[in-house]
Amino acid sequence: MHTVVIQKISSQQTWAVRHPVLRKGRPVKDCIFKHDDDKSTLHFGAYQAMILVGVVTLIVNSNGDFQLRGMAVLEPYQKFGIGAQLVRHLEDHVRKFYRERIWMNAREIAVPFYLKLGYVISGKPFDIPGIGAHYVMEKVLS
Ligand SMILES: CC(C)(COP(=O)(O)OP(=O)(O)OC[C@H]1O[C@@H](n2cnc3c(N)ncnc32)[C@H](O)[C@@H]1OP(=O)(O)O)[C@@H](O)C(=O)NCCC(=O)NCCS
Repeated sequence: MHTVVIQKISSQQTWAVRHPVLRKGRPVKDCIFKHDDDKSTLHFGAYQAMILVGVVTLIVNSNGDFQLRGMAVLEPYQKFGIGAQLVRHLEDHVRKFYRERIWMNAREIAVPFYLKLGYVISGKPFDIPGIGAHYVMEKVLS
């Protein structure tokens, strides 16, 4: 496992990881997600030796839902426990708000990752054009 330092970052800082991992070959502007700059939105970055290697975003939707978005770890750093550390950090943050549930639209390829972290699939798969099959996944925090 690679231990990382996790801290809050700006929406623009996430692009350094979102772009090569989530929007590869597409214009950088495609790294801008809806709600990125909402007052309640938080972005977390995982640093290893001062290099930003992973990012995740927490969105508080208008109905009070907590949504995880933009989960990404640079390819050479994947499978070293960095994604899991970012999700746990985000969960700790959600607990501070006395909220219990987090959900996300998970790419099919990432479903096993979220299952390992205790998330469950709710509902049928759906397609996000240009990205592929996704599942809504959720977790009630303990
Ligand atoms: C999905 C992603 C964020 C996971 O981050 P990571 O740092 O590689 O994951 P971790 O090393 O923390 O993995 C935690 C556990 O999940 C497992 N896991 C991670 N990705 C997996 C995958 N694609 N398939 C199966 N298992 C996976 C790991 O083996 C590990 O298992 P273990 O606890 O038994 O050792 C990262 O691989 C990534 O950025 N992928 C491309 C972008 C993407 O799909 N993002 C999600 C959008 S919804």
